[in-house]
Amino acid sequence: MKIHSFTSKLEKIASINHMTCKLYLNLYRKAVLSEIRSANINKNDKILIIGGGAIPYTGIIMSEYAKEVTIIDRDKEAVEIAKMHVKKLRITNVTLIQCCGENIDASNFSKIFIPLQAEPKCQILNKLKGTAMKNTEIIIRLPKERFAKTYTSHNELPIKNFQISTDVNQITFDKTLFCLAKDIISNEAHI
Ligand SMILES: C[S@@+](CC[C@H](N)C(=O)[O-])C[C@H]1O[C@@H](n2cnc3c(N)ncnc32)[C@H](O)[C@@H]1O
Repeated sequence: MKIHSFTSKLEKIASINHMTCKLYLNLYRKAVLSEIRSANINKNDKILIIGGGAIPYTGIIMSEYAKEVTIIDRDKEAVEIAKMHVKKLRITNVTLIQCCGENIDASNFSKIFIPLQAEPKCQILNKLKGTAMKNTEIIIRLPKERFAKTYTSHNELPIKNFQISTDVNQITFDKTLFCLAKDIISNEAHI
């Protein structure tokens, strides 16, 4: 089984119980808080997260600091499970939608977050280039060296100006890339 589907399945298994969902939130809290600081997420931000999974811990933690968080996932079952947890946590500023990152209209967001497993990143970025506002900030998790062949690494991304933070250290990712939508290089071949 590929690591993408393994981690998605693991989230679904953990999501069966609301307590394990809360454990998941605690496991990733430090890394997400670090990304929140680096991205300067604040109460004016409308955030889009592409690929939230059954336990959308990134979106749930970010919702404490942002105005609104929209989480999309192409997997209908993951969206339904995530909706249940968000409701149980009594979070009111998170919206969950079944949609692909390659099809999303990103015109209404100040910051867009792309977790490690959201793929294909080049097509997703191409869609963001076409729909997001020029100064919308894009935040992308990057794989650890040993997962460089599994996920798109930063030198494959069609981006001309970016900064990389190394403040996070999780099992599969240890870097976060920051750029603006206007710095995505459009590629007609990906449309
Ligand atoms: C990105 S991870 C989960 C993220 C993690 N729970 C978090 O909060 O950071 C896995 C999920 O991403 C979804 N996904 C991967 N690529 C996607 C895409 N292009 N569009 C929408 N969802 C995607 C998968 O369906 C899976 O449920």
